[in-house]
Amino acid sequence: MWAPLSSRLFLIQAKKAYFFKIALFNFFSHNLFIKYNVLSICSKISYLSEIMYKPKRLKLSLRMKLFLDSALQNDSFWDLCCDHGYVGLGALVLNNHEKSFTSVYFVDQVSHIMKSLQLRIDHLYNKPNIPYALYCLPAEDLDVDLTGTVLIAGVGGFTIKKILSNLLSKNKLKAKRLLLSPHTDVKILEEYIAFDEYQKCYFLKDKLSVVVGKKEKPFYILDQKNIKEIS
Ligand SMILES: C[S@@+](CC[C@H](N)C(=O)[O-])C[C@H]1O[C@@H](n2cnc3c(N)ncnc32)[C@H](O)[C@@H]1O
Repeated sequence: MWAPLSSRLFLIQAKKAYFFKIALFNFFSHNLFIKYNVLSICSKISYLSEIMYKPKRLKLSLRMKLFLDSALQNDSFWDLCCDHGYVGLGALVLNNHEKSFTSVYFVDQVSHIMKSLQLRIDHLYNKPNIPYALYCLPAEDLDVDLTGTVLIAGVGGFTIKKILSNLLSKNKLKAKRLLLSPHTDVKILEEYIAFDEYQKCYFLKDKLSVVVGKKEKPFYILDQKNIKEIS
């Protein structure tokens, strides 16, 4: 349905403000002092454009859809190192339509990212009808049980290894499925997956690849050992 002309113009202005923010940052980023001031202006513009510009539909890339398709139904979904949180948002919004989750958790260590994400959730057209929570901390410091499916994508293999080994050592990693897609340090992660201690808990169910820009990145699906039936 079309919004009235005034609100359409309002949305266009907000969208422009968002792109203006990026251009402004790129232009001044050579000077540290200016960069600091520009950053603070940018974050204000970003805040305003977040609350003014509400995208009608959540756009999920094929990569993100693959992540969601690979997650377990009727269980929790954890989006670690979530950044924009699109995959977790997809899990919230698609709930009851294409895939059902019982709860969705977003984790990122950067506070302004989590503030923007909370705003984005507040302005979703499809209001979440399942519980969700946002955690702003390094994922390796989580002190709650992680169940269902855990996704860690878009960070280096070393970071993924650090997060998994810390959670395992605290006995917090109780997920039935892990979805891992490192952007760098692939070998480090592959060695870790093959490592004895880790192998006691999870086995490699599938190795796929996903396209990011013009590059292909690996995508590992691991299941907890002794899971008899996986949907
Ligand atoms: C490139 S984004 C990945 C976004 C998304 N997961 C994807 O694949 O499209 C990387 C994000 O990981 C976050 N991050 C990096 N290390 C982290 C850690 N140890 N704990 C939590 N977040 C982390 C960063 O703050 C950043 O927002």
